[in-house]
Amino acid sequence: MLLLRRCHSLTRLGPVGTQRYRAAPSLASRAVRLYSNRRDDQRSYQHANNGASWKHIVAGLLTGTGVVLTYGLHHQEVERADAGLSTTAESSCLPVFSHNEVTKHHSLEDGVWVTFKGGVYDITEFVAMHPGGNKILLAAGGALEPFWALYAVHDQDHVLEILSQYKVGELRTEDLKKRDDAKSLDPYSSDPERHPVLQVKCKKPFNAEPPPEILADSYITPRVLFFKRNHLPVPQVDPASYRLNVEGLPGGALSLSLEDLKTRFPKHTITATLQCAGNRRSDMNKVKQVNGLNWGISAIGNAKWSGVRLRDVLLAAGFGPEVAKWARHVHFEGLDKDVTGTAYGTSIPINKAISEEGDVLLAYEMNGEDIPSDHGFPVRVVVPGVVGARSVKWLGRIVISTEESSSHWQQHDYKGFSPGTDWKTVDPKSAPAIQELPVQSAITVPADGAVIDRSDETLTVKGYAWSGGGREVVRVDVSLDGGKTWQVAQLRSGDEGQPTEPSPPPGQAWAWKLWELTAPLPPEAKELEIICKAVDNSYNVQPDTVLPIWNLRGLLNNAWHRVKVKVTED
Ligand code: MTE
Repeated sequence: MLLLRRCHSLTRLGPVGTQRYRAAPSLASRAVRLYSNRRDDQRSYQHANNGASWKHIVAGLLTGTGVVLTYGLHHQEVERADAGLSTTAESSCLPVFSHNEVTKHHSLEDGVWVTFKGGVYDITEFVAMHPGGNKILLAAGGALEPFWALYAVHDQDHVLEILSQYKVGELRTEDLKKRDDAKSLDPYSSDPERHPVLQVKCKKPFNAEPPPEILADSYITPRVLFFKRNHLPVPQVDPASYRLNVEGLPGGALSLSLEDLKTRFPKHTITATLQCAGNRRSDMNKVKQVNGLNWGISAIGNAKWSGVRLRDVLLAAGFGPEVAKWARHVHFEGLDKDVTGTAYGTSIPINKAISEEGDVLLAYEMNGEDIPSDHGFPVRVVVPGVVGARSVKWLGRIVISTEESSSHWQQHDYKGFSPGTDWKTVDPKSAPAIQELPVQSAITVPADGAVIDRSDETLTVKGYAWSGGGREVVRVDVSLDGGKTWQVAQLRSGDEGQPTEPSPPPGQAWAWKLWELTAPLPPEAKELEIICKAVDNSYNVQPDTVLPIWNLRGLLNNAWHRVKVKVTED
């Protein structure tokens, strides 16, 4: 409706065809008139929005920082619906601008214009009203594509709809072509090759998980199959010039090379499971739509990590009783940076970092070989028992601090909320950052929807189970009849026929257990609902359904895992 109205005002100025190749300034002034025509619509729209949500959208539009955008978009979506505005784009009736004309509009004084896929957008009023969204000025007078190339995950309908409301014209075809020719390098062009079997959730940044059917085939997840969770392009790190800086301690900064790490500190190996907070989000989506990558049950993996203890490095850097009096958190920063130069970063409590039993590693090997680039080459943190988000890859900086990391991923993302919290009421500050994860299990075989032949007589169900905080899984219960009756599965900490790992000391059970149950097929049943649930050594159990733990970001889904299979008679 909005854009149609705009087009009507243009029609009044004369036939579209005759306007398209006129001098840019007059077209620009028409665009300004056009722009003011839509002001009333916009005002009511903007009136319906609060400043904070717009700030989020601005930041999200350019930096794509996950939830910032997500929060903003949800406010936006709801409120736009309330305002009853249509955002259908119809660009053919809009004026044409040269690249030079666009570049003149790179400040609040001269107007803030951006281009996207050949469209020209005047977002001056939008930015002026929301000074906190100044990141958008980074693209002023130029193209949005280089920014969105970094955050392809946000190149989605919602965002395009928001942008479409600011469209004032088209970029001249010659300029568009020139720009295409000179397209800046795809920031993902040096990302590594990935295994084709991975189920890709997002290509850029790359996020993928292995098919569930093969996840529990090996106790140690092969590196190529280990789920990959990247927020940014994979940085290219030269191991020869790599430096890890440790800061915030009284002795001054400590700078360590890869060689230093390998030779000055004892090598330590742990077997630890990493799980993304969004693992099993797809089941939350089935209950009610959430925001985030639609992970299945395989955003989890178990590996042997070798490297040096963080504790040893902190002690060498000057950590002692005096520091212990004030230090509360350890920050980690990756070498992967967004367009504003902001690195991926998070923090963990100092107690976890410094305790001997905490086993926090600065790992340089995964399954006995150099860490692959997707998983943090040359050095990553492994914080066992804790949500994957804290195990920072491509580690560049460690800082001891009195405060938590101020990074987006610590303050805004990876937090849990009540099922009753919605995008209008959510306050990220009200919830603590997720650290230790709750008890979890899932069925990897059979797959949901599989068909079982009754002549098989027995059914084998397999899966994984794990708990956070070093709590050991002590039992997995399996039901073949939707929870009416239960049987105890066999647990193992190693591959079939291979020696199993020794039992971990109490509080240091970092690795998952694989489990298996072979049971007679229930007679007569034509369909089975198979369920699993794990119990850890604190007798924590999984909740039976998703609804009571549903949250708007779809995090921490550890409800009983259920698959339905059909039984056919031969
Ligand atoms: N570290 C950096 N530097 N950048 C990232 O994007 N992603 C985090 C964490 N560490 C991330 C990071 C998240 S959310 C998870 S779940 C794990 O890495 C995933 O580790 P993986 O890709 O090795 O499986």
